[in-house]
Amino acid sequence: MSDILISTRGLTKRFGAKDVLKGIDCDIRVGEKVAVIGPSGSGKSTFLRCLNLLELPSGGTVTVDGSVLFESEMLAKRDALDAVVAEIKDLKSGNASQEVKEHRQEAARLKDELAKTQDALTDARAKQKLAKLRASRAGSADSAEVDEASVNCERLAAEIEELKAMLAAVNAKIKQKRAEAKHNQDAALLSELIAKKAQAKSEYVAAKKAHAAAMKKTNKSIDEHRRNMGMVFQHFNLFNNLTVIENITLAPVSLNLKDVKAERRKLLMRKLKGEDVKSGLAALPSKLEIVENAKATARKLLARVGLLDKADVYPSTLSGGQKQRIAIVRSLAMNPRVMLFDEPTSALDPEMVGEVLEVIKELADDGMTMVIVTHEMGFAKEVATRVLFVDDGQIKEDAPPQQLFGAPQHPRLQEFLSKIL
Ligand SMILES: Nc1ncnc2c1ncn2[C@@H]1O[C@H](COP(=O)(O)OP(=O)(O)OP(=O)(O)O)[C@@H](O)[C@H]1O
Ligand SMILES: [Mg+2]
Repeated sequence: MSDILISTRGLTKRFGAKDVLKGIDCDIRVGEKVAVIGPSGSGKSTFLRCLNLLELPSGGTVTVDGSVLFESEMLAKRDALDAVVAEIKDLKSGNASQEVKEHRQEAARLKDELAKTQDALTDARAKQKLAKLRASRAGSADSAEVDEASVNCERLAAEIEELKAMLAAVNAKIKQKRAEAKHNQDAALLSELIAKKAQAKSEYVAAKKAHAAAMKKTNKSIDEHRRNMGMVFQHFNLFNNLTVIENITLAPVSLNLKDVKAERRKLLMRKLKGEDVKSGLAALPSKLEIVENAKATARKLLARVGLLDKADVYPSTLSGGQKQRIAIVRSLAMNPRVMLFDEPTSALDPEMVGEVLEVIKELADDGMTMVIVTHEMGFAKEVATRVLFVDDGQIKEDAPPQQLFGAPQHPRLQEFLSKIL
């Protein structure tokens, strides 16, 4: 059996027009402690949320324990289709010709210069006004300063006229060349592109269907998946209207009840077929038993983080560090195979950071597999077996902490570390 617990290939996430994850290939092995570092907005949280499918990826593959949980090529296929469509549009409109492209570049340059000159003229007019004001205060209608400012304004105004004329000439050329290119359009190339478009479209439609099917499958297995992945957030996300122990037992109880219900349904179906299911039904735990079991587990875990005496209080009476330790216990109560932490200490007062890191470190020492997004570089150095540097939606470096911090390779990582260390 492979020891890879989570694996992503070509993982992408797009929000609107923004590509937040740009193809992440990553394997997380059983027992590894992976720290994720990188600048704000680089996609660290999104990556974590995609692993847990709190956020559905846009493309790529997420495999957990060898079974594919999410797979989609839809986005890549749509990009390919869009590219062919744009090519055809350029060809048809005459924009594809080299001469038109060059003229367009020239037009863009002229527009840029025109805008700059217009700004300069606005400045110059303001200076002229000021000079006139000064001159009139000094009791004369004109002065050397006024003259100079006026000359400057005139010069800029003339330059603007000239630039406008040049731009109009280039635009006329573009129009003419486009018309010519359209006329001489390469029929062979066009029909080749149209065939390419049909192919791209059918591939996109197939990928879209596969995507929908994958989503259905993913939705079915999502509960099971989440059970295996505990997630701890920056802001604890405890329910303030429930006591500590109710917070911890809520999910395990409801999932266990669901399991028991499903099991009971199966047994009753078998009964309908004439089988004897009495002993099976009798062996199913009652709701009370499920609740008591969950509470017993919760108490054990609370004792482990030194908070057993807080079982029956409400979260509002706890400090941030205590809340976060409770949030960790709540995740552990599901008996996950991997823990995902998203900046678990960055909302805490400095004096509480230590107690939370201590709990995480103990978990790590116990062999828990974990992925932790953190700004605590000291902690990453001490606890992580591997560090990923995420920048601009990509993993730019992936190395053991000693190597990554001691001899960073990527210039972006060097820059990042020089700012924070
Ligand atoms: N639901 C969303 N809708 C639109 N854009 C989003 C959404 N979630 C995240 N983004 C954008 O994706 C980019 C990456 O965000 P993400 O939260 O993953 O970054 P991060 O590396 O965790 O940053 P930080 O260190 O500040 O937590 C940001 O530009 C963010 O604005
Ligand atoms: Mg984040």
